[in-house]
Amino acid sequence: MPYSFFVLSRQHEELARDEVIAISKSYDPKAIFNSESRLVIGRSVIPWNKIFQRATFVRLSGNIVGTFSEPSEIYLPISKPDSFACRTINLSSKKVDLSSLEREIGTILKRKWNSKVSLSDPHLTVYLIITDTKQYLGYSEINVGLKRPKKVIKRPHELDWRLSRCMVNLSGLKEGKTLCDPFCGTGTILLEAESMGIDTIGIDFDGKMCDITKRNLAENGYTSRVINSTYHHIERISDKIDAIVTDLPYGTASKSSTSPKKLIKDFLSIIPKKKKLVMVYKKGLDIEDLSGAKKYEIYRHKSLTRVISVR
Ligand SMILES: C[S@@+](CC[C@H](N)C(=O)[O-])C[C@H]1O[C@@H](n2cnc3c(N)ncnc32)[C@H](O)[C@@H]1O
Repeated sequence: MPYSFFVLSRQHEELARDEVIAISKSYDPKAIFNSESRLVIGRSVIPWNKIFQRATFVRLSGNIVGTFSEPSEIYLPISKPDSFACRTINLSSKKVDLSSLEREIGTILKRKWNSKVSLSDPHLTVYLIITDTKQYLGYSEINVGLKRPKKVIKRPHELDWRLSRCMVNLSGLKEGKTLCDPFCGTGTILLEAESMGIDTIGIDFDGKMCDITKRNLAENGYTSRVINSTYHHIERISDKIDAIVTDLPYGTASKSSTSPKKLIKDFLSIIPKKKKLVMVYKKGLDIEDLSGAKKYEIYRHKSLTRVISVR
């Protein structure tokens, strides 16, 4: 089984790590992970680029060959690339002369392969990743980035696409499964889910929001169903959905039928307990019904900290 590495972005480290693990486990439940600082190393049958294309908070990814202590020990079990570049990533607490290390290893590999060095568009990138305990050697062929949907109509209360995408990934759904967002607003969660091949159903009690979502979906050629109803509609379609991923009303910018606290309590009482639930709400609502859930706090500004709950 190959080893892959994922260097997480500085933002939301715990969320980023759990997102990588949730995506991997949805394809390979036996995947194993270790992490140190912003580096996650996984052993799984899933190629790293499958996970990288979905993950929101991963900066770099590739295969791990092993560890090294001296540059002269470096060995890459791959055939000679047409062109390559070396990149050093220091995730340790010590200062490292990265450019010297990069040059030294670049010279060794150039001598071995006699390939062109291309910093802007290499066929192969060799990574030297330094943590406080180890030095890892990794590589990747051409990186394919995220495939992002277009959003033509936006609203101030919409959820950031990064959090939306990450929440979809935390649900552990893979292609062909069905996600429901019963407070879909402008459709951000639906768009991110469908861009990853997940079927979706959106619900919103505000007809204008349903129209906006439909426009946003149509712009991408997506076929999610959008139902103009209250969240209670979920009880009628629960056998068709695999997970609920949603962003609850805050009681400020977006319309709500009742107070946010009452609404969440009622919402949690009607949804099927066995369905995976990923929801985001404003911190301070203290929802007892979610005591067993994993929670992540996301600070936005002094009057808004969000909580993502995964149950
Ligand atoms: C925070 S917004 C969702 C924003 C959405 N994530 C986006 O990115 O656009 C909450 C949505 O819940 C809808 N809503 C409020 N009360 C509802 C209810 N009882 N049933 C269904 N939808 C409701 C509002 O119309 C609003 O669009």
